[in-house]
Amino acid sequence: MTSSEKDSPPSTDPQANAARCFALVPCAGSGSRAGTVKPKQYELIAGQSMVMHTLAALQSVTRLYKTVVVVSPTDSHAWPESSVQRLQCGGATRAESVFNGLSALLAEGAHDPEGVQAHDWILVHDAARCLITELEINRLIDACLDDDVGGLLALPLPDTLKAAVNGRVSATLPRQDKWLAQTPQMFRAGVLHAALKAQAADHFEGITDEASAMEMAGFAPKLVVGSPHNFKVTYPPDFALAEDLLGSRK
Ligand code: CTP
Ligand code: MG
Repeated sequence: MTSSEKDSPPSTDPQANAARCFALVPCAGSGSRAGTVKPKQYELIAGQSMVMHTLAALQSVTRLYKTVVVVSPTDSHAWPESSVQRLQCGGATRAESVFNGLSALLAEGAHDPEGVQAHDWILVHDAARCLITELEINRLIDACLDDDVGGLLALPLPDTLKAAVNGRVSATLPRQDKWLAQTPQMFRAGVLHAALKAQAADHFEGITDEASAMEMAGFAPKLVVGSPHNFKVTYPPDFALAEDLLGSRK
């Protein structure tokens, strides 16, 4: 640090240090459990593809500066002309897709002040959670903006939790401290990137969400109560439920 830098007062420009919120949507899965012909995120639900419902919810949040979607390098889906930015760098696992997408965004941001900077927030949200609402996204942002770590939407476990061996109960586990993790998950872009990078050599083993990477890096993400409607469309019956719920909102 030069003496002139040391003596200069902190920037009074409120924009200089203001962290913005970006959204990154992993959309590069094959949907193997869904039993659909094409990847589940492109199945039509209530008149439009699943991922379009997801993007509509994110785009209704005015505090989100920009949303990008990570798709597979072999993705051949016909996206609408004016749709969001797509990064064709999806990986073999969800964690790898998020890591590749975040790496690309930060590399872009290194040259472009409009792009993602390390101190900006990144909200990672599954393409397959098409029932997310503006209200829930805003609740997460409100809860995390002043937090040192960030956090995730999650639900306290409503049911009794059983462990099983060969299809039979081996134990009843305490549920008081158990939560079901959802998305969005909101962390500082640079910190999340470093946390994921640290797991890359192990092929992201055990990293099933962003919070798990942050936990491995020694952080304790904040749990913010989500909604049971924000389930991840995973199995065949989930499509009809999503269709009913989306249809009932219109
Ligand atoms: N995803 C991704 N890249 C992968 C795997 C998953 O971007 N290699 C995305 C999916 O497109 C989805 C989200 O991560 O939006 C959550 O993953 P999941 O529901 O497990 O989707 P799939 O992996 O596609 O489904 P399955 O596990 O049944 O194959
Ligand atoms: Mg999967």
